[in-house]
Amino acid sequence: RGESTLIHGGQVVSPSGAVAADVLVDGETIAAVGAPGTLTGTKSIDATGKYVLPGGIDAHTHMEMPFGGTHSVDTFETGTVAAAWGGTTTIIDFAVQAKGTSLLSTMDKWHGKADGNCAIDYGFHMIMSDVNDSTLKEMRACVDAGVGSFKMFMAYPGVFYSTDGEILRAMQQAREIGATIMMHAENGIAIDQLAAQAFAAGRVEPVQHGITRPPELEGEATSRAIRLAQVTGAPLYIVHLSAAQALTAVAEARDGGQNVFAETCPQYLYLSIEDLAKPGFEGAKFVASPPLREKSHQADLWRGLRTNDLSVVSTDHCPFCFKDQKQLGRDDFRAIPNGIPGVEHRMDLLHQGVVAGEISLSRWVETCSATPARMFGLYPRKGVIAVGSDADIVLYDPAATQTLSAATHHMNVDYSAYEGFELTGKVHTVLSRGRVVVSPDGYTGSAGHGKFLSRELNQYLN
Ligand code: URP
Ligand code: ZN
Ligand code: ZN
Ligand code: ZN
Repeated sequence: RGESTLIHGGQVVSPSGAVAADVLVDGETIAAVGAPGTLTGTKSIDATGKYVLPGGIDAHTHMEMPFGGTHSVDTFETGTVAAAWGGTTTIIDFAVQAKGTSLLSTMDKWHGKADGNCAIDYGFHMIMSDVNDSTLKEMRACVDAGVGSFKMFMAYPGVFYSTDGEILRAMQQAREIGATIMMHAENGIAIDQLAAQAFAAGRVEPVQHGITRPPELEGEATSRAIRLAQVTGAPLYIVHLSAAQALTAVAEARDGGQNVFAETCPQYLYLSIEDLAKPGFEGAKFVASPPLREKSHQADLWRGLRTNDLSVVSTDHCPFCFKDQKQLGRDDFRAIPNGIPGVEHRMDLLHQGVVAGEISLSRWVETCSATPARMFGLYPRKGVIAVGSDADIVLYDPAATQTLSAATHHMNVDYSAYEGFELTGKVHTVLSRGRVVVSPDGYTGSAGHGKFLSRELNQYLN
């Protein structure tokens, strides 16, 4: 037996609460969890005064994503390093099928981008933009290759958009093979009309992105996706839910016993259409779809996190630089690349919800680690501090303070959507499969340490 590391003196946090416990790491996995003082290791890390968390799982990121003639600026390397700094030890990114190409060639292409470059473990969902006999058949091969979740779009006509008929067919196949359909639920056909009308009337500034994508059209698309899922019997996961109208639809479906799940993102909990309306072109920093909403939606989203109508928090991290990429839409808000950076700050921003009394400590860990692990077939390898699980562990200092800024963040993007936010709580030490990748001395990981995770199906259903 070689080196082992004892993490001692901390509070181990799980969905069922926080307990004083020591954790012994041997190689890449957790060898023991015991009462304080009962375990020994050859090395030790003092966790006194810290929370000991299962590493964060961000189930929605876009590294190197092609969008609007450019691509998101974090590579799989820079993006996963930033994730690690923020206490996230697993990302699930998206392989993006271009129309006219196959799902399996798309998967190969994304392995080519990510393999050997990630600092932490990673998986893929498949963005399915072309539904036909052949791609429907390929869905099964994707599941066998560890990609059992397929994102579809009711938004972005002409790019990723699928018709209701195409969605219905993909859902029928998902039901057959146990896969989960992830839906970008906004009515893109109606939105494109509103956006064209605004542009024609000379309203070209960033806030128009929000005005022309009203919350009712997210609510409508969410309801429609839920009905299509009901008719086909397919499980449905609504991504990046931003609006009270959509939450109401999800809650009603769940109360009716349907397998509908939803995630929200920190930007919808903390930012609003007021950011999009900042003077000059500043609002472009906050352009993402669905758009930032009126502040009144935020209280509904926090309630949804408490009631489990929102069961996951992901970032939808999709960074574009302000100085060049966002400028593509200077004269036309429709050309601003859609996306907000955030992979580094999800754990911190949701910890603010604990500090503010919006969610409990255990709910923080549940929505940011345990539930995404189960939802996307990674449990108990990920999402829990238990014997045999990967030693993906975060020591979190709830008393430390920090100010978020582009000057200090590690994401490869020239602005922070949370510039100047003063937070209580900060990551202290991060282990990825037993290796210390972040400590008070800095980043000690390496590109290529992160391995591809072949995932099981949704563990709430299969
Ligand atoms: O604006 C966003 N959300 N960009 C990323 C792509 C998507 O729809 O998730
Ligand atoms: Zn989306
Ligand atoms: Zn996304
Ligand atoms: Zn740039």
